[in-house]
Amino acid sequence: MFTPRRAIFSASLLLAMAAGASSAETPHLGKPIDEAAIAYWDISIKNFIGDSTTIFDFIRRAMPFQAPRSLSDNEVYALTAYILAENKLIGANDVMNAETLPKVKMPNRDNFIIRFPDRI
Ligand code: HEM
Repeated sequence: MFTPRRAIFSASLLLAMAAGASSAETPHLGKPIDEAAIAYWDISIKNFIGDSTTIFDFIRRAMPFQAPRSLSDNEVYALTAYILAENKLIGANDVMNAETLPKVKMPNRDNFIIRFPDRI
């Protein structure tokens, strides 16, 4: 039952909790992470793809995920160039088009095992 005494107790409990929350820096969950551990996770872009044209092809056909085929070829070249430039594989001002894109050498290019080399 909700008695006045209980109401006062609840109100003071809430006040105490609010005061505690505002003075505490964190909720004291988890534990601090050191720089070395952060560096391990600091990988925002993968670089596995063997051919630069695969990036163009993937974005052109599948991205953005919720609206595939909505970008113009020019936009797809620009996005591909952005990803390549962020990965320091091309310069920030390099022009990407049908001629220049296939010439970009991907770092992982020689690490693929070609099962049927004679068919290439
Ligand atoms: C124009 C904006 C976008 C670009 C340029 C883009 C680009 C890419 C690229 C290059 C990949 C392949 C990454 C890799 O395998 O290493 C990828 C994968 C993916 N993206 Fe996007 N993306 C865009 C927007 C989005 C959005 C808005 C979503 C979600 C709503 C999304 C969801 C995904 C998912 C789920 C994958 C993995 C697909 C798979 O492996 O089959 N992307 N995206």
